[in-house]
Amino acid sequence: MEKDIYILAVESSCDETAAAVVKNGREVLSNVIYSQIALHTEYGGVVPEIASRKHIEKINQVIGQALTDADKELSQMSAIAVTYGPGLVGALLVGVSAAKAISFASGIPLVGVHHIEGHISANYIENKELEPPFICLVVSGGHSHLVVVKDYGEYEIIGRTRDDAAGEAFDKVARAIGLGYPGGPKIDKISKEGNPEAISFPRAKVGDAEYDFSFSGLKSAVLNYLNSCQMKGEQIHTADVAASFQKAVIDVLVDHSMDAVRKYGYKKFAIAGGVASNSGLRSAFEKACKAENIAFYHPSPVYCTDNAAMIGTAAFYEYQKGVRHGFDLNAVPNLKLGERVPG
Ligand code: KG4
Ligand code: ZN
Repeated sequence: MEKDIYILAVESSCDETAAAVVKNGREVLSNVIYSQIALHTEYGGVVPEIASRKHIEKINQVIGQALTDADKELSQMSAIAVTYGPGLVGALLVGVSAAKAISFASGIPLVGVHHIEGHISANYIENKELEPPFICLVVSGGHSHLVVVKDYGEYEIIGRTRDDAAGEAFDKVARAIGLGYPGGPKIDKISKEGNPEAISFPRAKVGDAEYDFSFSGLKSAVLNYLNSCQMKGEQIHTADVAASFQKAVIDVLVDHSMDAVRKYGYKKFAIAGGVASNSGLRSAFEKACKAENIAFYHPSPVYCTDNAAMIGTAAFYEYQKGVRHGFDLNAVPNLKLGERVPG
């Protein structure tokens, strides 16, 4: 009988301090997330210095809790996994330093993980049958990528945003219509009361690159619409603005993704990242995939936004391939997907 592989995973790339224990890649034994959202809300977005400081305060407690919740001892772990990029450098450094210290003190190997690879891998947790190859749309606060997942750890980015990430557009528009931070969940909620056809916002195409995205024009269109209403003294119907904006984002994401699915011919499609928990986006993809007989995968909301379970899952496949990192592992804020810092 093969030995079970337990991985203790740490994630601190943005404003969530998180740790998890994952068994054999897909079984989450614990998933502890300390969200700093409340701390950053009054500034309207994440303040990097505050995020780093809070990570330092919380990281040991969160890691300890993950082991306790899983009912495991550190000595039972086969690897310590940690996100080392991309993300906020100061925030990443806290997780990387903690993981290196634990690895050094215990002699348990260290495995560095790419944050986006974690988001994609979140799909494996609840969909035990899902295996590459498939197409995955990663939409978060910092990234909008259309990715061909060729194999575990093997990716080809076929589309990316030229400006704002999808989540960033949600956050900026939410701020403009007075909903506050973080905007995504708030726009999602209020959109249910609005008419998505009320205002015609643009669906941007990026001339030469068929799968690339651009959301800054849409954001400007929303701001212009709000300004012109104010100038004319017209009342702004927040729910209609939110619903029409959300529909414009969804239309572009679905359009590009389904074009890619058709072109590449895979019968599987997945979404990942914070914006993947958007209810309108999920139902639009459910419908589009059903119409084309494509199996549609998405993580539960808790595995869409930043968490360490997804890092443990991604680390399992890296670990199986023999990837190990040394104590010179550093935070790499602009780490590219598929790029590996030598282990
Ligand atoms: O993946 P994530 O937790 O962090 C990054 O890696 O960036 O994503 C956070 C982003 C934020 O921009 C947030 O507004 C957005 O995901 N988000 C949503 C929803 N929940 C979170 N966007 C749209 N609808 C949601 N329900
Ligand atoms: Zn993320």
